[in-house]
This record gives sequence, structure tokens and C-alpha cells, in this order.
Amino acid sequence: MQVELVDILRCPATGQRLVLDGAQYIDGRVRSGFLVTERRDHRYPIENFIPRFVSRSNYAENFGMQWNTFRKTQLDSHSGHLISSSRFWKATGWRPEEIAGQWLLDAGCGAGRFAEVALNSGAKVLALDYSSAVDACYASLKHHPNLYVVQGDIYALPFARETFAFIYSLGVLQHTPDVARAFASLPPMVAEGGGLCVDYYEKSLKSNLLPKYWLRPLTRRMAKPELFALLKRLVPAMLTMSQALGSIPLAGRLLKRLVPVANYHGILPLNEGQHREWALLDTFDWLSPRYDQPQTVATARLWFEQAGFQDIELLRAGHLVARGRKPANAVSSF
Ligand SMILES: C[S@@+](CC[C@H](N)C(=O)[O-])C[C@H]1O[C@@H](n2cnc3c(N)ncnc32)[C@H](O)[C@@H]1O
Repeated sequence: MQVELVDILRCPATGQRLVLDGAQYIDGRVRSGFLVTERRDHRYPIENFIPRFVSRSNYAENFGMQWNTFRKTQLDSHSGHLISSSRFWKATGWRPEEIAGQWLLDAGCGAGRFAEVALNSGAKVLALDYSSAVDACYASLKHHPNLYVVQGDIYALPFARETFAFIYSLGVLQHTPDVARAFASLPPMVAEGGGLCVDYYEKSLKSNLLPKYWLRPLTRRMAKPELFALLKRLVPAMLTMSQALGSIPLAGRLLKRLVPVANYHGILPLNEGQHREWALLDTFDWLSPRYDQPQTVATARLWFEQAGFQDIELLRAGHLVARGRKPANAVSSF
């Protein structure tokens, strides 16, 4: 942890400022120690260079396992493609020059595929996740001096209000127990005049029919290592089946959806090895989370309106994207 991070951190329970206690340093960064409230009534550990505001065991453990197993898979610097970069810029609509030098919050960073994109544009990125995905993110991106990593909960963000010029949360909200409340925690953290962008699964008749939703009642209850081992065996065959169905003229595009596997052939420019790796990663991502709660377009607009945001836009870019700007001199209803 960089010492200057203390300036923006706050106790998530009381909002108090925090001070370092018993810090051990390596190469100028805090490797271990504690963050303690000024009144000394709350204490949070710093472990492996990362402040931890949540308990190690929580509903997002599947994501910790997933992102530590596939630490680099979706980083553009590793895949050799601009897949994460293109999703980030399309979703946010921000320009590299406007985020350079600004504080950005990546709420639910996972392995840091989008944090990497923002860092490459010169932003100061606070990558936050509930799970041990933060360790994967830190391991891959710690060479960026502007990367700050925190293990924390979107429902109890450990920051001073209006700290961030830009906040994004991509592919996260649907995986929280109360999606509206998870969204509501973000607007207060956006600085006046700043931008907020979220994307998530869209709720529709088509999404209700996806075969993953027939399987999830079973798979989300399975022990994660067992589910992973099972998918490791099944995914190659499911990919072949999905490909074969996909090649049937006319009906193929619909038929291939019947196989519950993340098949990116014809969608992403991956090589065969990458197709298999991304298929295993994303099929596990579909079937393992405790929560998967798609939302409608109307709901997304309502949330931004209730937060008093302007320039609200909704678009479909892979997922459903919703974005807007906090007015300068805003009086937020949150
Ligand atoms: C599907 S992953 C997306 C990760 C990353 N944004 C990406 O697109 O690669 C969802 C992430 O949300 C995180 N998450 C779920 N609930 C959270 C919460 N309450 N607070 C912070 N992060 C949370 C999970 O741990 C997981 O890493």
C-alpha cells in the first residue's frame, strides 16, 4: 500500500479518518500493519500490501478463485488483443486525455482488466474488490505506480465522499445481493462534475431463457473446486457441440445458445487455445456466483435519475451500459 492512500481512506463503519499503525515497509510500500481510526475503535489489517476492510470469507469467494486462477487471461497486455480496452472505452464514453491524472474507482475490479486500460492512460486507479481477486490484480499490475488496491465492499466503501472524478463498475452489480443498494453506494463517491458508468446483464425474455439459468440453482450451490474440475472436463466437448450447432444454416445462431458454454468463436478474435481458456473462465463465471440478477433498461435510467445525474445514456455494448455525469454543485438524493 502506498502511504498517500491514507489521505482518501475512511473507516467504512464510522467515516473517520484512518492512521497507520505498526507498518512494515518494503521498497517504500506498506507490506503489513493496520489502519486504525482516530478514536481507536476500529482497526483494519494491511496484508500483502493491500488494506483489507472485509472478512476473508464472503459470498464472492468463487470470484477470488476464478481471478487467481485466470489472473492474466483477460488482460490485453497478456491476450495480445484490445478486447478489454475496446469494452472500456465503448462503455464509458470517456476520452483517455480526460481521465489522465484523475482519481478513478474500479468498483469490483476482478483481475484488473479494465484497471490496466485506465492505468495505461495515466489515471490514478483505485481497484477495489470484495474477494481475493485483489491479490491477482495487485500481482499483475503492481508495476504501475498509479495503481492503488483495496479489498472492500461496494456496500461500505472505505473512502471520503466525492473522491473520484470517474467511477466505473463493469460486470459487477448483478453479482451483488441487492443491486439497487449496490448502485446507490456509488454516486456519493463521484466528485462534482464527475462521471459514473456501470454495465451489467440485461433482464429480458431472451436472458430468462438462457440455459445457464436452468443450471444455476444446482451449480451455484456446488463446492467451487468441484464445479471447476467438472467444467474443466466438460467445456472442451461443450465447445465442440456448440460449434457444430452454430454451423447449421439459419437456426445455428439460436441452437448454439442451448449449450451452456461461453463460446466466443466468431465474436472475439482469439486463437484456439484462448477460446478454450476464455470458455472455461466465463462458463465458471456464469455458473458459480451466488447472485446473478439481471436488470432492465428502465431500472438503470431510474437509478441515475434518482441520483440527480445528468447526460444519462443507456446503450447495449455487450452488456447493458448505463452512464451519466454528476452535476457541478450537485445536491445528491443519496
Ligand atoms: C464478473 S466479476 C467482474 C470483474 C471485473 N469488473 C471484470 O469485468 O473483469 C464481478 C466482480 O464483482 C466483485 N464483487 C461482487 N460483490 C462485490 C461487493 N459487494 N463489493 C465489491 N466487489 C464485489 C466480485 O468479487 C468479482 O470480482
